[in-house]
Amino acid sequence: MLLQRGYDVRIFDSLQQRVHPHGWPTYLAADIEKVVGDVRDGDALGRALEGVDGVIHLAAYQDYMPDFSTYYAVNTVSIALLFELIVARGLPIQKIVSASSQSVYGEGRYECQACGEIHPPSRPEAQLARGEWENRCPNCAAEVTPLPLIETAPVHPHTAYGISKYALELTSLNLGRKYGIPVTNMRYSIVQGTRNSFFNAYSGVARIFTLRLLHDQPPVVYEDGRQQRDYVSVHDVARANVLVLEDERANFRNFNAAGQKMTTVLEVARLLTKLCDKAGAEPEVSGEYRFGDTRHTVSSWEALGALGWRPERAMEDFLAEYVAWVRQQPNLEDFYARSQKAMRSAGVIRSVGGITAAIA
Ligand SMILES: NC(=O)c1ccc[n+]([C@@H]2O[C@H](COP(=O)([O-])OP(=O)(O)OC[C@H]3O[C@@H](n4cnc5c(N)ncnc54)[C@H](O)[C@@H]3O)[C@@H](O)[C@H]2O)c1
Repeated sequence: MLLQRGYDVRIFDSLQQRVHPHGWPTYLAADIEKVVGDVRDGDALGRALEGVDGVIHLAAYQDYMPDFSTYYAVNTVSIALLFELIVARGLPIQKIVSASSQSVYGEGRYECQACGEIHPPSRPEAQLARGEWENRCPNCAAEVTPLPLIETAPVHPHTAYGISKYALELTSLNLGRKYGIPVTNMRYSIVQGTRNSFFNAYSGVARIFTLRLLHDQPPVVYEDGRQQRDYVSVHDVARANVLVLEDERANFRNFNAAGQKMTTVLEVARLLTKLCDKAGAEPEVSGEYRFGDTRHTVSSWEALGALGWRPERAMEDFLAEYVAWVRQQPNLEDFYARSQKAMRSAGVIRSVGGITAAIA
């Protein structure tokens, strides 16, 4: 999209092994300048910033693994280093767009009939181990109803990833204002689309469910599968990034880039089952859960809508496009098994009644 709009594009990427084990993706256009480097490396980043007018900071460490310091080093320190270099070298950067995440909202917003709007803490381990999935009001313990996440709502990230992204937002907004460099932080919902790395364990349900289905295995859903999410097409996200890059009304603000509707994980599993032509395969409700997952997380795109953006692609369309793309990939291995094994060994996946024996 940037090329179509006439930009010269330089990508700076470390080609992280767990995302790009085979080096640069072959789909990248020939006229993109490709630079290998780590966003934690000031010399390399400084060189990559020479002659640049705008930065879209997408590089991130994202996972469920407990190497906590890596989240901050890659996701937060990198944005501080970016400003450090701009200020020290007087670089004429006119705009920085940074990838934040829906995860900054933590467990999110709910409506309690008795207490009004509440922001519950993450669900206690003991509750999850009993298989009680729904949030309850922290004041009166009543059942609560999820509300859409809006940018003005309080944020309560509770994972190292979410906290690192919130720290990125604060760093970027504060240093941007202080040094007069326009910034925008983008809180993406779950972004899905073709070209999503097969190797990345943190790349969303489409990859995991599709790979299982194409290996004649049913999708496995965590909890009871009724947790709600919103999914947004990578095409819509690319348009959102370009919009906020160019539109001054987006300066010094955070925006959600959200999907069209709230959807349960079970609905996604059933849709992908249909798209993979595996009619009759019922999703498997495993009774397992991922410690640190939120229950219902659905963002509103109203604020970005006021700038003229809307999620144009329906989930049915972009998941069909995704499945068609996966089918064309050569030598499909069952990456699902590999990522499951890694998460189990880190104790991230747990079972009702306690940690599963599989972890041992
Ligand atoms: N995909 C989603 O659903 C989603 C949702 C919310 C936020 N985000 C954010 O959007 C951005 C892009 O996500 P994605 O899904 O394309 O992720 P991805 O893992 O496919 O891409 C991240 C890129 O960053 C590179 N990278 C990792 N560590 C690096 C480092 N130290 N130095 C330089 N490059 C490094 C990787 O090689 C990879 O190319 C990320 O910041 C992510 O946190 C994504």
